[in-house]
Amino acid sequence: MEHTCVVGLGWGDEGKGKIVDMLCPAFDVVVRYNGGANAGHTVRAGGEAFALHLLPTGVLHRNTVGVIGPGVVVDPIALLAETDALIARGIPAGDRLRISDRAHLVMPYHLLEDRLSESNLDGSNRIGTTARGIGPCYADKMRRTTAVRMIDLVELDRLKPALTRIVGQKRRVLEAAYGAAEELDAERLFEGLRSVADRLAPLVCDTSLFLESEMASGRKLLFEGANGMLLDIDHGTYPYVTSSQTGPQGVASGAGVSPWIVQRRIGVTKAYSTRVGEGPFPTELTDATGERIREQGHEYGTTTGRPRRCGWLDAVAIRRSVRLGGISEIALTHLDTLSGFERVGIAVGYRLEGRLIDTMPADPEVLARVEPELETLAGWEGDIRGVKQIADLPSGAQSFIARIEELMEIPVEIVSVGADRQQTVFRTRHWRDLIRTRAHT
Ligand code: GDP
Ligand code: IMO
Ligand code: MG
Repeated sequence: MEHTCVVGLGWGDEGKGKIVDMLCPAFDVVVRYNGGANAGHTVRAGGEAFALHLLPTGVLHRNTVGVIGPGVVVDPIALLAETDALIARGIPAGDRLRISDRAHLVMPYHLLEDRLSESNLDGSNRIGTTARGIGPCYADKMRRTTAVRMIDLVELDRLKPALTRIVGQKRRVLEAAYGAAEELDAERLFEGLRSVADRLAPLVCDTSLFLESEMASGRKLLFEGANGMLLDIDHGTYPYVTSSQTGPQGVASGAGVSPWIVQRRIGVTKAYSTRVGEGPFPTELTDATGERIREQGHEYGTTTGRPRRCGWLDAVAIRRSVRLGGISEIALTHLDTLSGFERVGIAVGYRLEGRLIDTMPADPEVLARVEPELETLAGWEGDIRGVKQIADLPSGAQSFIARIEELMEIPVEIVSVGADRQQTVFRTRHWRDLIRTRAHT
């Protein structure tokens, strides 16, 4: 059994939460290594639905510990609200959680700056962020002189003078840039932190050492990626990206483990493409077909409720993620959503001013101009949510999977045919047997 990561190959919302949750019985620790409350990972099980934002999906399982690594940006107030909501539903999430002492804090002024920055930009420059303060917090992390980390929350009295200085600076900067910062008050902010510090402090530790000792005891780690690889700060559709390393590359630094421990790298993609927020989306369907995918797939954001933009699977974009992430296998989700389409499309290239290309241009304006070179395959009919084996899928669906494997040059090991934990088909025995034999919840 190998330490494994689950990452999104697209622009987020690929179904990472469902896949991670389904794999949890085979693992002991689930680690978030990037992003923050911009993530919204949905888990459906036994008629219940859970939406996780900051908490690792593993906290839903009795015998799994959740770790928030140093690469995550943590809004302490949001984290406690999320923990309390789970406790109210009978899940002792707080008892199953460790938070890195090195993780940076998302502060109220980050939320304010995220909102102000977006509302002061016009349409084409706006990123369409989740307004969770992610970009401003990572910017402070890189700046270093205005950052606040979890360890500072533990050493609260030392934080007070630093916070007074930082809030003063934020007020001046935000006032100058946007003419609005009067709601920032260092004293009130400090009191807000004091009210959460006592509860969070016992969960804070050097999670890198914790993970090392867990591995030494033979426990297995599952790294839960947030956002998607096309939103990666270095490799995504910049500047319409998030501010962290979203792929397997981010695991080592964001979780605090050595780079060679992650032996299996699962890339999750839907059977089609979606995107929320702004930015180029070559296969986007703004017609009735796109609308039909949105309705059949219930494509509305978990974090913000925004309707997701929908289109055919973009194999050019996904293949880039597979290559960059050294992805070893694919988890294909929402296959059920495409049931009933007479034909289904896959973009196998882009046309740029008449020329056929098979790479993603760096310039977002150029990427916005490309036309997808679509291959269309015969669709399939019927409700496939109860299917348990690949061989029992309609032949159109099987050919679709085979074509994806051909284009990606790696196997589709997991096929999700519905939102529920149980609605999953495995290509081989590997994951199915591990989940069964190690099942502990
Ligand atoms: P994540 O951010 O990658 O975890 O994905 P989200 O939870 O934001 O969005 C995925 C949505 O699709 C959620 O509402 C899931 O419950 C749902 N979902 C996941 N897999 C499937 C599937 O195979 N079929 C259907 N119909 N829904 C799915
Ligand atoms: P999960 O983990 C979908 C998108 C936002 C916006 C851009 C920047 O649920 O897949 P940010 O708030 O991070 O500064 O927003 O990135 N985005 C996501 N889209 N799923 C996510 O997370 C996302 N996290 C960020 O919509 O376009
Ligand atoms: Mg999501």
